Amino acid sequence: MNCIYNLDGVGFTYESTQDSSTGEFKLGPLDFSIPADKISFILGRSGSGKSTLLSLLGLLRYPSDGSLLVDDQAISKETLTRKQMADYRLKNMGFALQKGELLPFLSLKENSDFILEYLGARIKKKETKNIFKTLYSSESRDGQLERLLVSKPTRLSQGQYQRGALARAVANRPKIILADEPTGNLDINTSHEAMIFLQDYKRKENEAGRQVSVIVVTHDVHLSIEYADRIFVLKKGMLETQLEKKEKNQWMDVNGPIPSDIYSHIVNHLK
Ligand SMILES: Nc1ncnc2c1ncn2[C@@H]1O[C@H](COP(=O)(O)OP(=O)(O)OP(=O)(O)O)[C@@H](O)[C@H]1O
Ligand SMILES: [Mg+2]
Repeated sequence: MNCIYNLDGVGFTYESTQDSSTGEFKLGPLDFSIPADKISFILGRSGSGKSTLLSLLGLLRYPSDGSLLVDDQAISKETLTRKQMADYRLKNMGFALQKGELLPFLSLKENSDFILEYLGARIKKKETKNIFKTLYSSESRDGQLERLLVSKPTRLSQGQYQRGALARAVANRPKIILADEPTGNLDINTSHEAMIFLQDYKRKENEAGRQVSVIVVTHDVHLSIEYADRIFVLKKGMLETQLEKKEKNQWMDVNGPIPSDIYSHIVNHLK
């Protein structure tokens, strides 16, 4: 199987907590691979290390231990400078992170367009308009889209903001999308629309001969069952279990028998 990420004993400790004897958080050691061209979900209780893991997968930090391969490239201080990591991110990754990162002084549309200017426009600005139409379908129906596009992020609702982050995440036509609770502030219909948007993006890239790996962190078990090909469950910084969707939406747990009720199975692992 073609994997975009390979983790072998990957660990991470926050520097501020490295010397403290109490309450230290340690991620890993983690050993698993994330397939290219699939939608993978990361689940786990609050504080289990999901965002920390995403920051490693997103080349925002170096792992403290182990071997992390992204696209067969080793990620360590010895092999890659911070500048090289930033270049890789710009060209290959799209982020929709938990802590909002739209630039406050740019409008919603400018937040996507500026990436295109950086990259010499891999997606045409005209196309970004269609992206917004899809992500803001109800606002579009109400004739509110034009007003939204010129709004600064501080004037948006949390859900509108989150969808803006998704629009920007695909602007550079990435092969890896990393989304941290992208539907955390969305109602149920809009959550599904956001996931369908990511699915469609992946499908269209596939049709153009490009592979895309989408990695989503969520607390929404139902959403993961519906949209994931793989589910990774974290517990206290460790991989608790790993599930794989097979033919006809049948799930397989790498650690044991195929669960009949997948929802309760996952919830049990989250306890
Ligand atoms: N910058 C930091 N410095 C020190 N400790 C941190 C830092 N960021 C996170 N932590 C700690 O690392 C642990 C894991 O945090 P992380 O944000 O990865 O959890 P999470 O699974 O994403 O949780 P949530 O579901 O609440 O977003 C927590 O105990 C947290 O307090
Ligand atoms: Mg988090």
